[in-house]
Amino acid sequence: MEKQGILIGPFKQLVSMAELPLKGALKDSQLEVIPGAGIWIEGELIKEVSDYDTLKHKLRNDVELIELDGDFVALPGYIDCHTHIAFGGNRANDFAMRNAGSSYLEIAEAGGGIWSTVKHTRACSQEELKQLTVERANYLLAQGITTVEVKSGYGLTVEEELKTLRAIADADHETKADLLSTCLAAHMLPKDFEGSAEEYLQMIAKVLFPILKDEHLTTRVDAFVERSAFSAEQAKPYYEQAKALGFDLTVHADQFTTSGSKLAVELSAVSADHLEASTEEEIRLLAESDVVAVALPAASLGIGCAFTPARRLLDAGASLAIATDWNPGSAPMGKLISSASILASMEKLSNAEVFAAITFRAAQALNLSDRGRLVAGLLADFNIYQTDNYQNITYLQGRLEPYAVWKRGQLASS
Ligand code: NIG
Ligand code: FE
Repeated sequence: MEKQGILIGPFKQLVSMAELPLKGALKDSQLEVIPGAGIWIEGELIKEVSDYDTLKHKLRNDVELIELDGDFVALPGYIDCHTHIAFGGNRANDFAMRNAGSSYLEIAEAGGGIWSTVKHTRACSQEELKQLTVERANYLLAQGITTVEVKSGYGLTVEEELKTLRAIADADHETKADLLSTCLAAHMLPKDFEGSAEEYLQMIAKVLFPILKDEHLTTRVDAFVERSAFSAEQAKPYYEQAKALGFDLTVHADQFTTSGSKLAVELSAVSADHLEASTEEEIRLLAESDVVAVALPAASLGIGCAFTPARRLLDAGASLAIATDWNPGSAPMGKLISSASILASMEKLSNAEVFAAITFRAAQALNLSDRGRLVAGLLADFNIYQTDNYQNITYLQGRLEPYAVWKRGQLASS
């Protein structure tokens, strides 16, 4: 008989993330931790989460039973809502130069910086770029990341941005993780564009945006709002054109200087990411808005700069997500639990705040409401750890890896 569903359990602890609010500080006592729980899957979705023995009594013979023997903990699949994993080349020399005291300008003049990754990425075929993206997505999947946002932004011409976004779409078919792309053609003014920053953005909006719509290549537009890239004044009309076409907006904001987060709030962006330089004013504006603040601790570790003021953002009432920002320049680490656990130590975040930041709050940053909690009706994306206590996950700072990763109701990695 063909099986119509799967019952898996018992879990010593199941951390459901149910009922927690989208915004503000969270205490671990607010976490729903179900002892002796089971997960009943039907197709791609969770049919029921509750006591394993109770579910087992309801078992029909068309439901497959996966009975776990030992101490296991279940949590929702993680969501990495900010990455740049579609790139060619390597920037180890930038890291060495930075640590030897070189400035951003000196590194760029020595052939490093974003532009060097643009050259390496342009040299890749769409097939090569797809393959690199699949390998990195699978590395994230093995960490329990079942949904990965992937930005373009190392192409910086209409054709090269299209190549990257098509490579990401192709990669999505070859990894069990869900890949969601974002157009970051506004990463920097390309050195070989003959014209001003305004003219470049105007060209991208006029020529690239309609193709993205026609080919359904992405639903999201991002820009690097920073002194070395685009000012808020330059980015604003660009974002307004994207918004008019129905794209969700996200902003690389306040990384070194403040400016992007105010624009993110003004434009009702889904997220404002980085925020290392945000002051009380930006924190208050973000907290009063529905914009998700995204901390990228691996970028702080890669560059050796301040962490996003995550504690103050949460205490002010903001929604906080945490992502890897995996990219070859500022954040080569590619480790979500390690970097989120370090941020937790530095910023004094509860486990509830960390897990919210990489599950349902990260889903909100991607405008997704079908995942991020272990509750009936949502996608059956979940991680199983062989441990007796979920607290070990952040305590061990990434050393405890998932025993199994389930994606859309199927075993995806173990
Ligand atoms: O998110 N801040 C801008 N973009 C990336 C870095 C890109 C790069 O250096 O290649 C970031 O940190
Ligand atoms: Fe980034």
